[in-house]
Amino acid sequence: MSNTLLRYCRFGEPESTLELITEPLLPRKANTLRVRMRLAPVNASDLIPITGAYGHRLSPPQVAGYEGVGVVTEAPEEYAHLRGKRVLPLRGQGTWQAFVDCPAELAVPVPDDISDEQAARAWINPLAATVMLKSFPPTGKRVLVTAAGSECAQLLGQWALRSGARDVIGVYRSSVHADKLLRLGIAPVAHQDMQAIVHAAQRADVVYEAVGGKLANTLLSHLPETAHFVSYGALSGQPFNMQNRAARLHWFHMRHSLATMNAAAWQTEFQVIWALLRQTPLCDVTLFPFQQWQSAIAHYKTAGKVRKPMLDFTAH
Ligand SMILES: NC(=O)c1ccc[n+]([C@@H]2O[C@H](COP(=O)([O-])OP(=O)(O)OC[C@H]3O[C@@H](n4cnc5c(N)ncnc54)[C@H](OP(=O)(O)O)[C@@H]3O)[C@@H](O)[C@H]2O)c1
Repeated sequence: MSNTLLRYCRFGEPESTLELITEPLLPRKANTLRVRMRLAPVNASDLIPITGAYGHRLSPPQVAGYEGVGVVTEAPEEYAHLRGKRVLPLRGQGTWQAFVDCPAELAVPVPDDISDEQAARAWINPLAATVMLKSFPPTGKRVLVTAAGSECAQLLGQWALRSGARDVIGVYRSSVHADKLLRLGIAPVAHQDMQAIVHAAQRADVVYEAVGGKLANTLLSHLPETAHFVSYGALSGQPFNMQNRAARLHWFHMRHSLATMNAAAWQTEFQVIWALLRQTPLCDVTLFPFQQWQSAIAHYKTAGKVRKPMLDFTAH
């Protein structure tokens, strides 16, 4: 049997670096599940490593993709109950391939009432949001999120409000996001509206920040010293100045949280996430047949997109 996968053998722009190849499926290792993939999203978290941003701890060749959903085709006897069931095959191989092998104890069973489209993106952004909110609680606080058009920021904003945040302001780049933010209870502020951003920063208690560069500098130079500034992304590709600030600065990287999370705690986190996702509208998706991965990445790179691109392994 063969496997089709998207691999990169050097760092660079994903469009020119990824290659779709077909190769024989190797035998499954002990204590792993083999999963036939159904859907995998295209997230910032999938594309950034391909550019070499984490080159100090990741070396090609690698199969791209961090999350997704599929059906178990092979399992060790201890996990025989998972054969034919949907799981998230996480923390094993890259997920942008037709068959993924993953550590059996870390595969997350998907409840029947969760759709493939919800399940495929149940990890990176939802877990980052829940862990950040646990680590830097928003209860009773004035919260500010940046990149407010992103799925991660919208989960942070909605779940901060559920946790009792006083209010949430969302700084967005494309105006297409403003109405949705209002519907979610997040007060929209345009990226260019420096006066409103400075005013919001002066009153903020917690900032969850994913843009970096000029926006981060503006926020940091106006936040009060009691505020917490949580940096979890750098979508602008620009660093920020760490000197000119009074607020407390924190870095959030999911891999640090995973390093201290055992398999039982990992599975428990997903019980929380399934419950939250049942009550949280995620953005719509656009499905791209796996073979059309270049179109999926082009869609991802379109400014002002409101639908998450997903690779569809079931389309032929
Ligand atoms: N640290 C961690 O462990 C961790 C975990 C999960 C996610 N993240 C980070 O969370 C962020 C969001 O990920 P996602 O999957 O939720 O994204 P997403 O849904 O794909 O949305 C990306 C958003 O980023 C905005 N954006 C892109 N470039 C920008 C720029 N230069 N300036 C301002 N906004 C920009 C886009 O704005 P437009 O709508 O205007 O195009 C879009 O709304 C990423 O930085 C990702 O790395 C970090």
